[in-house]
Order: sequence, then structure tokens, then C-alpha cells
Amino acid sequence: MKPGKTYSIRLKFMYNLTEGLDGFYLSTYKDKDGQVRTLATTHFEPTSARKAFPCFDEPQLKAKFLITITHSRSLQSFSNMPKKEESDVRGKNDQEMRVGSTKVRSEFMESLEMSTYLVAFVVCDFDIIEKKTDSNVTIRVIAAHDKISQAKFALDQAVQITQNYERYFGIPFPLPKQDLIAIPDFEAGAMENWGLITYRETALLNEEGVSSSLDTQWVAVVIAHELAHQWFGNLVTMQWWNDLWLNEGFASWMEYKGVDEVEPDWKMMDQFWINEVEPALDLDSLQSSHPISVQVQEPSEISALFDYISYRKGASIIHMLEQFLGEEHLRKGLEIYLKKNKFKNTVTKDLWNACTEATNNTKDVMGMMNTWTLQMGYPLIIFSRIGNSSVWNITQSRFLLAGQLNGTNSSLPASPYNYKWNVPVSFKTNLGHSREILLGSKDNDTSKVVTLDEKIKWIKGNTDGVGFYRVNYPTQIWTMLINQLNTDLSVFSGADRAQLIDDAFSLCMAGLLPVSVPVSLSTYLVKETDLVPWKIALRHLKSWKALLSDGPGGSAVDAFISFLVENIYKKLGWFEAGTHEQRLLRTVVLSAAVDAGLKDAVDRSKQIFTDVMDNQSKISSELQGFVYCTGVREGGEEEWNWIFKKYISTNIPAEKSHFLKALACSKDIFTLQRFLDKTLDKSQIRHQDVKSVLTSTAMNPAGTLLAWRQYRKFWDRYNKMFGDGMTNMGNIGAGIISTFSSSFDLEQVEDFFEKHETGGGKRAIDQAVEKIKVNIRFVELSAESVVGEVNIIVNRRKNLA
Ligand code: BES
Ligand code: ZN
Repeated sequence: MKPGKTYSIRLKFMYNLTEGLDGFYLSTYKDKDGQVRTLATTHFEPTSARKAFPCFDEPQLKAKFLITITHSRSLQSFSNMPKKEESDVRGKNDQEMRVGSTKVRSEFMESLEMSTYLVAFVVCDFDIIEKKTDSNVTIRVIAAHDKISQAKFALDQAVQITQNYERYFGIPFPLPKQDLIAIPDFEAGAMENWGLITYRETALLNEEGVSSSLDTQWVAVVIAHELAHQWFGNLVTMQWWNDLWLNEGFASWMEYKGVDEVEPDWKMMDQFWINEVEPALDLDSLQSSHPISVQVQEPSEISALFDYISYRKGASIIHMLEQFLGEEHLRKGLEIYLKKNKFKNTVTKDLWNACTEATNNTKDVMGMMNTWTLQMGYPLIIFSRIGNSSVWNITQSRFLLAGQLNGTNSSLPASPYNYKWNVPVSFKTNLGHSREILLGSKDNDTSKVVTLDEKIKWIKGNTDGVGFYRVNYPTQIWTMLINQLNTDLSVFSGADRAQLIDDAFSLCMAGLLPVSVPVSLSTYLVKETDLVPWKIALRHLKSWKALLSDGPGGSAVDAFISFLVENIYKKLGWFEAGTHEQRLLRTVVLSAAVDAGLKDAVDRSKQIFTDVMDNQSKISSELQGFVYCTGVREGGEEEWNWIFKKYISTNIPAEKSHFLKALACSKDIFTLQRFLDKTLDKSQIRHQDVKSVLTSTAMNPAGTLLAWRQYRKFWDRYNKMFGDGMTNMGNIGAGIISTFSSSFDLEQVEDFFEKHETGGGKRAIDQAVEKIKVNIRFVELSAESVVGEVNIIVNRRKNLA
């Protein structure tokens, strides 16, 4: 083709609706009468628009789309834009000419300039509810007739969040309408197609009294995430997939801000740390992690980018930047960025420049942020004191979980910044000082000396866990921090306490702290009443338990957990009451108590299950997850079959997913195998849920090896189910094996993946293998001390009683 000339291309294209979960695909569901109904829907991101129609399927090639769909008159169709007109289709044969065709042609308005991956259309027989925003945008929630009554919560949230975003971004929502539709077969959680957002049913539908607080919060969070993309991603789009993090990191951060504004009592910003920052710190402490910005070419490489680094680390560094610039400067930066680039494409640098502009060029945002996006990992900030003096040294060095493992070299692969970061380091002291200093990535300022009051007893770094780094202190300081927690924990925010726990356990796992530090720190939990510290402590203790369950460590950790949760267990009780946070906490604490074998908890949980099964009572929405699980674990075939029947028959997606997870709780390996085999039969378990079945079975100690065998045995069949260049296979595999902790298992893993190509799933497997190595070292070096240390505490408590 000659440059500067305009060419028109016409292509005739034939395509059969596929049964996969991407491209233009088929989904089915049963109505109230048990009749199977069919719908056709799309999922294109990242590279499946080309499956549905011929196109230049790359994000930087934006175009205006004119979409026309011919379909049966009894169905409705939806696309990005509102319908322009619906007209009769002329009949093809005599019969049709006489009575009129059964088909109509739906023509949609021309779209705005947009990327192919955001195009969508759905043909179905669903119902609609709708409402207008203050700014006159029509918001509709669309779901199957039998489920439309569960759509109201989503509609209210979507209206409010849209209005708030219009204000926050300073830009009205650019389309005349917004549809949110619940698709029965859906691979991801949701997809932000411009004006027609598709959702998995559990991410959109909510049934009061049945959906738990966490289920409901999930709906709000997913809506806030996808709506954020309508501006950040859809109106302004990354130039190429290597900057995917711009989309997903930003939306993952905005999820919390968006919901926080509508539901201020839900303490979303506290939850941000436990859901986003902590999992990212965990993954990014591996040498097999990757920088936020990476070169990608192949579709399988692109799919593999939808990971914790793009989402959670991306969100974390935006959060850190907001703190650094101030809320209004960041908001202004976003507004400048969006206004300047609307209907166009950008690279990461454009966002940093807009932020600098928002500060009147007073801050070098790019200089700081490049150290976070162009190299992987993050720093460990080390506070040390010169003697007992007033002089403190604050320095940084890369934090690696594998640390001194044989063959690891912490400077590989090479980084443009030699694994030094521009870090805003905040800290406070027992004397109430609160300060922030900036460490740099250049040789002469990677560490700093500060002079503080001599009378200082302790120092606590990374105030409220806003910074993407970990902190270590001299032993005496750890001791003083632990004393402080035990005497008066309220001097620290919940986020600070959670982060102390997390740092202590993680440093211990990396071999940088003895087991006694996290154990003695944890004892303060008997006085803890906040959600986030509890969640993180239990996450670590459960992981210890999983690693040590081959020896006496498992039951020792159980006894320790029982001891820690006893107070809060009694305090919260079993009845639905209290704030959103207390409800979330109740579920976390009660289920931990049951898992740890606290007798009262197990008995009550069993009793509730029996009462529900005998139809004597309705279960509290917050308890269903672990009560069903306990019922299945403690029960036999009858209980399992009962739950399976409920799983098949319920029409409430939130409940369905609780049933499905409970089915993985059986202790009987034959039952578990029967369950695993159902994943090969689409009529019993939808392909979208196969991942959940395999990983939740693997999390059950009785099921781990079965799941691992199933995954290998049916490798080819599972692989065919997912059209994403094996990213899902990698994630499922990683989910199954990452608690392995023996050299024997490691050998099997390495052997299998040597013989099986993993494409886009390779990185996830490499990361799991690195984790296994860390696990093996922990078991070898620390299993005994864990048993010793926790026994001291538990016995001391027994002697007191
Ligand atoms: N753009 C993604 C959907 C997606 C995921 C497309 C993976 C292709 C591959 C969407 O915005 C998204 O991130 N959805 C999340 C939910 C969100 C609340 C984290 C998801 O599907 O898990
Ligand atoms: Zn997203």
C-alpha cells in the first residue's frame, strides 16, 4: 500500500460461535422450568477480537465501529452504543415473505474512537432494570429473567460511582448509556467493554440475606474497577500491552477509592493494604518476578501480564505516589492526563509528566517512579542505631525471600537502577515524632543518617503501610515494639500493626529474623479487634501450618491459633451483628477457629450444618462458607450429595460459589476424586469454575496430591479449555504446588514441567518453584523452632489457667 493513500477493504468472513470463553462465544443457562437457553456474547481482551471479525487488533489502532446484528425477533441485542434502529429483515422464502421474517436487524449508533479489545455485543433474552445519573446517562443492569431481582444493588452502586467519577476525573462519561450485564459463562471477573461491561454472575448479582458482606463488597469493588476503566483505559488507552499496568494498576487502586466514597463505613482503604499491597509484596520478593513494564509481543506473553504485578503492584505504587504528591495533586495530574490524551493512546511517561505538571513542576515524578516500574522487586529499609546514641542510619537493600538460597544472586538479572529505589521513607517514634525522608537510587543517597531524640525507645517505619517496601530493625527495637503492642496497641493504626506482623513473618521466612520474633509479636493478638491485622496474622500462621503439617508442627500451630483467637472468638459470637468490618472479621475468626480445631467452634459449626440440612433453620449469610465446608469435612456421602444438589439447583450465584468451594472440603479421597472428575463434564461444572475446583481441592490437605495428579493426568484436556496461551494452566499449576515443601515433591514438579511446555504460564510456574525452595529451607531450618516457640506460649497459658 502507498503511504498517504486511502484504501477501502471489504472482507467476507464466516465464523462459527465457539464454545470457549473468548472471541464471540456461546453461553447457556437453565430457566426456572429447567429449559436450556442460549446466548451469544463476546470477550476480546487482549487479542480475541480478531476471532470474531477481521480487524487490526492492536490497542493503538483506534477506530469508530458501526455494528449491525441480525438475530431472532424473540431476542434482544446489546452493544457498546445505544440501538439506532431495529428493522424487519426481508423474508428469504415465500413463507417468510407472507408472514414476515422471524428475524430483525439491529443497528447500533456509530461508536467513538476506540480500541478493538473494547468492542462487545451480546444477543440474549435477558431482563433489564435502569436508572439515570444526575448527568443523564442511562445505566442499565441486564440479567437472566430469574436473576434480575438480584440486580438492584449493582444498579445503585453503578449510578453513584459513575457520578463520583465524573466529578473526580473532571470529565463527563462520554457515552449516552452504560450497560452492565451478567453472563452465565465468563472466564474473568468482569470486562470493561466501553458502554457494555460484561460480568461473571457473582461479580454483579447480590441477594440480600444470602450474599455475605464479602460477596456484596466484591460486587461493589468489581463495578468500581470496571467503571474506572471507562475513563482510564477506554477513553485513554495504553499504546501497547507492555503498559498494561497503566490500565489494571490504576483500576485496581480506584476500586477502593470508588467504593470508599459510596460506602465510607466499609474501611476500604484499610483493606487496600491486605488485598493489594501485601500480596504484591509477597510475589515481588521472588527473583522470578518481573518489572511492571516489560516487552511483550506474543498473545501468550500479553495474557501472562494480567498478574499481581500489573494489578496489585501497579495499584500499590499509585497509592504510594498519591501519598507523596498529595491527594489533590494526583487527582489533578489524572485530569490533565485524561484531558490531554482523550481518544488517544499513551505510554507510562505521559502519566508521570501530567503529575509533574500538576505540581507546577516542583516534583520529578518520573525520576522517582521509573525506579519502581523499570526494575522488579522492592527494598528492605533497615533502621539501625549507632550504639544507644541519637544517631540513626536508614538504608535500603533489595528484599528477596529466597535470600541466601544456594545459587541466588541478588543483583541478577541486571537492573538499570542496581536494585535501588527512590523511596519516601516515613516513620514514627514512641515520642510522637512523625517524619518522612527520601532515599535515592543514586550511589550517594541510597542511605541517610538522621539524628533523633536520645530518649527514643522504638521507631516504626512505613507509616500505615503506604510505601511499597518492608522494614527491619535491630533486635532491641523489635522487643520494644512488641512490648508496646502488648501494653497499648492503640498508638499504632490497624494498618501499622498489620504491617509489623507481616514484616516479622516475611523477614523470618527469608531467614533474616528468628522464629521467636513473629511468634512473640503475635501474642499481642489476644487484644486485637481489627480486621486487617487478624487477616494477615492468620494468613501467615495458616501457611506455617500447611508447610509443617507433615510433622508435629501442624498441630502445634493449631494450638497456637486456638489460643490467639479465643478472646475475639468469644467477643464476636455467632450472631449477625455489628459493622461491615465486624461482620467480615467474624467470618475470618470463626472459620480460623474451626480450622484450628477449637472445640466449641467445631461443635457449633457442625450443629448449624445439621440444623440447616434438616431444614430447621436458615443459615446466616456470613457463616455459610465455612459451615458448609465443616459439614462436608465432618460428614459423609450424604452431606456431600446434599451440598452438590444445592449447588446445581440454586439460582443465587453467590450461594452457588459457596457450595462449590465447600464440595472441596471432604476428607474422603474417593469423594474428592469424583468431584475432580466432574470438571471434565461441562454439564456438571462450567469451564469458568474448573480453576476454582482444582485450586480449592488442592488447598484441602486431603486433596493436594489428588489435584496435582488430576492436573497432570488431564493436562491436554484442561489446556484445551482455556484459550489464553496457557496462562490459566500456569496459574492453576502454581496454585496447586506452591505449598509443597519437600525435595521429593520439588523433583516431581521440575520433572513434569521439563517435559511440558507452559507458554504464557511459565512465569507462574517458575515463581511457584522458587516458593517451594523457600518452603523447603524453612521446614529444614525452622520447623523445630516453630514447635518450640509456640509450645512455650501455649503451655505458659495452660499453666496460668
Ligand atoms: N480488563 C480486565 C478483564 C480481563 C482479565 C481481560 C484478564 C483479559 C484478561 C478487567 O478490567 C479486570 O481486571 N477484571 C478483574 C476484576 C477486578 C475487580 C480485579 C478480573 O476479571 O479478575
Ligand atoms: Zn481491569
